[in-house]
Amino acid sequence: MFDLTGKTAFVTGAASGIGEAIAHALAGAGAYVYVGDVDAEAGTRVAGVLNANGASAEFVRLDVSDKGQCIAAAAYVHARHRSLDILVNNAGVGHVGTILNTEAEDLDRLFAVNVRGMFDLTKAFIRPMLERRQGVIINIASIGGVIAIRERIAYCTTKFAVVGFTKSLALDHAKDGIRANAVCPGRVETPFVRSRLAEYPDPQKAYEEMAATQAIGRMGKPEEIAAAVLYLASDEAAFVTGTALEIDGGWSVGK
Ligand SMILES: NC(=O)c1ccc[n+]([C@@H]2O[C@H](COP(=O)([O-])OP(=O)(O)OC[C@H]3O[C@@H](n4cnc5c(N)ncnc54)[C@H](O)[C@@H]3O)[C@@H](O)[C@H]2O)c1
Repeated sequence: MFDLTGKTAFVTGAASGIGEAIAHALAGAGAYVYVGDVDAEAGTRVAGVLNANGASAEFVRLDVSDKGQCIAAAAYVHARHRSLDILVNNAGVGHVGTILNTEAEDLDRLFAVNVRGMFDLTKAFIRPMLERRQGVIINIASIGGVIAIRERIAYCTTKFAVVGFTKSLALDHAKDGIRANAVCPGRVETPFVRSRLAEYPDPQKAYEEMAATQAIGRMGKPEEIAAAVLYLASDEAAFVTGTALEIDGGWSVGK
């Protein structure tokens, strides 16, 4: 339905979960996809599967919390493709705690990946986009960037920042051919959530409680987030900028 033939996309955190599904969706629509991740083994595997399926993809190792690596990754892409068409800042890390058991160092660690990483990589990619007057930036926030989630104070702080950054970017460059949008997932079954569940004394009970947070009564699938990203990346979303699109099974609608 959406055609990204001839476009290039860079997806961070694409070696797992939501990012992996986004890489598949964009590549499936015809884009050349750079699979960016700190995990070389898993990232190489994802790029290999895409290529084996007839798509065009390659793995680029980067730690988004390292500004130098963000600049180097963009330089690598720009040497091969004049400019990037679609940047998806998806890499993210979580933390469980109220202010009482969250240290400033925890906040710094989440901020470095979830916010600084997104900022540095966007800055590294945006100039050629501006010169061409064409670029789409999609940031994966969270429903925790729109409403508070209990015991996620550091995580919510960073995800509200992701939404704020996205809206500022969208406004500043709306007339320059750049669209910037955030996607705010509810709970999605990925290794990210599975590792959280493993920390509970009764993981099955915690799973059921997490599923029940969504009004729909289940967790989302990575493909359901990727579908929204595919739409936002496409020309069909040409009039959509500055939005924070909630794909949350009705979590944020109310109790
Ligand atoms: N799963 C959910 O329920 C959920 C809900 C809302 C938002 N999100 C957000 O979606 C995004 C993806 O989550 P997921 O559930 O797919 O996670 P995941 O843990 O399954 O995958 C995250 C990927 O990011 C990579 N990564 C982590 N730190 C990195 C860094 N510094 N540099 C480069 N790559 C790095 C990891 O290696 C991994 O491949 C995150 O931003 C997360 O906050 C997830």
